[in-house]
Amino acid sequence: MNEIETAKLACIKAGEVALKYFRTGLEAGYKGGRNLVTKADIECEKKIRAVVSNEYPSHGFLGEEGGKSGDQRSVWIIDPIDGTTNFFHGVEQFAVSVAFVKEGRVMCGCVYNPVLKKLYHAQAGKGAWLGKSRVSVSKTAALEDSLLISGFPYDAPELEDKTFKSMAALRGKCRDIRRFGSASLDMCYVAEGVCDGFFEYKLNSWDIAAAMLIVREAGGKVTDINGNEATVDSGHFLASNGALHDALLGNLERV
Ligand code: IPD
Ligand code: CA
Ligand code: CA
Repeated sequence: MNEIETAKLACIKAGEVALKYFRTGLEAGYKGGRNLVTKADIECEKKIRAVVSNEYPSHGFLGEEGGKSGDQRSVWIIDPIDGTTNFFHGVEQFAVSVAFVKEGRVMCGCVYNPVLKKLYHAQAGKGAWLGKSRVSVSKTAALEDSLLISGFPYDAPELEDKTFKSMAALRGKCRDIRRFGSASLDMCYVAEGVCDGFFEYKLNSWDIAAAMLIVREAGGKVTDINGNEATVDSGHFLASNGALHDALLGNLERV
């Protein structure tokens, strides 16, 4: 199986694991701050690693729950459940995110919401897709017509403050701002063109690796919060339809 088919299969199989536990009254532990983890997060990541290792035994991993292992030059970056707080509370907005990154470049990525059966995927140079349909970013050109998304860091008060200040700056200028609770799906909404921009401080590579490629392949732009071209390790991100990028940047608190 090629890499994108492997990523899709891994997401679908992990999605089945997540659904087995969804709304069953699972217990959760804390990884620090308000950052939850459940048995489902850990089992989903194990499932993804097993599917990928079966096809690519020499590749490495970087997973939110399992950390780094193996060759990091050809690495699969995994967020087994992106939106664990939603998952834990029984809210359907969560996803499995899997990306294949070679020498620092995202080659393909997949983000899957198992409840809605929405599977977004992209390969470098081959466009972004939702299931069998190609997706592209919105054409919204005026901030006042835009629907934006953001999120709060779990354990960084200073960056939470920047989030609020940025939201306050944008609130009166855009149509509205959402906080859905799954950064990968937030970015896929931008890729799909139903929302126009997303920003969030203090994200990890596993939150955004797959979604970053999906946004770019959908014709959108992803930078760090200061406007520099983003890598998976940039930490603070702005993703947009491109047309609104500078206007959004002008309202965001820099880091
Ligand atoms: C979180 C979600 C959330 C974002 C947090 C992330 P997790 O991921 O993407 O939307 O605001 O910053 O950590 O912990 O549920 O995998
Ligand atoms: Ca995440
Ligand atoms: Ca997670």
